[in-house]
Amino acid sequence: MVARVWPDSLFRRLAIILFAGLLAAHVLSFGLVALNVFGPSNESSDDYFMRYIATAVAILDRVKPEERPAWLDRLGRPTYRYVIRDGGEIETAPPKRRQENLARLRAMVGEGHDAKTVFYLDPLNRRRLGWLLHLKDGTPLMLEFTARRTVSSPWLPTALAVQLCLLAFFTWVAVKLATQPLARLERAANSLGSDLRREPLPEDGPKEVARAAAAFNAMQRRIAEQAVERIQILAGISRRLQTPITRMRLRADFLGDRDVREKLQGDLQEMQTLVKEGLTLARGRDEIGKQRCQTDLHALIDSIVCDYSDAGKPLRFSGERGVTILTHPQGLRRILINLIDNGLKFGEDVEVAIDTQPSNRIAITVSDRGPGIPDEHLKSVFLPFYRVEASRNRETGGTGLGLAIAQQLVSALRGTLTLANRDGGGLEARLEFSR
Ligand SMILES: Nc1ncnc2c1ncn2[C@@H]1O[C@H](COP(=O)(O)OP(=O)(O)OP(=O)(O)O)[C@@H](O)[C@H]1O
Ligand SMILES: [Mg+2]
Repeated sequence: MVARVWPDSLFRRLAIILFAGLLAAHVLSFGLVALNVFGPSNESSDDYFMRYIATAVAILDRVKPEERPAWLDRLGRPTYRYVIRDGGEIETAPPKRRQENLARLRAMVGEGHDAKTVFYLDPLNRRRLGWLLHLKDGTPLMLEFTARRTVSSPWLPTALAVQLCLLAFFTWVAVKLATQPLARLERAANSLGSDLRREPLPEDGPKEVARAAAAFNAMQRRIAEQAVERIQILAGISRRLQTPITRMRLRADFLGDRDVREKLQGDLQEMQTLVKEGLTLARGRDEIGKQRCQTDLHALIDSIVCDYSDAGKPLRFSGERGVTILTHPQGLRRILINLIDNGLKFGEDVEVAIDTQPSNRIAITVSDRGPGIPDEHLKSVFLPFYRVEASRNRETGGTGLGLAIAQQLVSALRGTLTLANRDGGGLEARLEFSR
């Protein structure tokens, strides 16, 4: 239950904690103020009140009886009033607090006023509690309480609502400020995968954020340096291997035994491919990221299909004409060739198709009618040198790097490559790019 209510994003969690904390503090301080204003009166305010009454009684004692009605209005307050009349039923056993108040009133107004608490009926016929006193000349004086003490501030709910909105707004600003650098870091880490030479993060803002950005930039620099170093080593090895391999191939031509010669030539050919492919895999991502241009997709695929037809390997091709895409044509060509090669090598009836649905994405599918790939291998085949069955590949040859290279180029082009087995047999490789 708690897990369901407790949001999983840091933004929402922080917002809830901050807002709840501020709201609690707000309610608490408002409650304290309200208690002071609306709550039970304390001794000092009671004293103040008694002093008022004593003053009023002293004034009424001194003015002429015919002038008293005019004074009554002046002496009254919004919450109580004075009336010259006899009270109702006298309270015989008042509670302790009222007894104390009565004693204080008696002490305040002085002897001979005979103050009592009495019940009377108000104009709406409700039983209310008041005080009955007698002026010096014996005139009865009732003190009637008209209403509870209130604070008449019609703007109070509006002020509270405005405060609440301000709380919510500043909570949002604070949380946004705290989580924005994290989002920036996440974006940077994500794009690091496809572009090691991306712009470094700005190292400004609060100290902690600047330090995290500086650490991230340093990490990016180290990774980029290491990658460059590895590529240089690999490129060096492959370049140096090319010469001895070529030399060995030349020497192999002079071998007398035809069978041995052909086997050796096959092995050397495989080594050469391996060296070349390994280099492509190491370089792939690096070369592709930057140089992209608007490319006519139909024209590009059509030229590949023609090359295959010329080599006696006909393919089927369907798709809308005139669709352009921002890509690295050489890289995309390489991806498609790797996928088509697999289709031709492991299956038959290979078809390439362009799918422009939905409008903001472009998909290219390469499908065949071959044995497909068992579901448990569908992910692993993207690993370098991973091949499904040794027996299947012995006839077909290859290094096991085709899909790894394709996958790497696709991610450098910010697309996706997925494999799926088709109904009725065969494999469908689906490339997707956003336009
Ligand atoms: N269309 C396909 N049908 C059936 N199996 C496939 C298909 N494409 C790939 N595979 C399987 O996935 C494995 C990995 O493919 P990948 O292209 O990476 O290597 P490869 O084709 O064996 O060698 P390379 O492409 O380097 O010449 C293949 O060995 C094969 O077992
Ligand atoms: Mg392959």
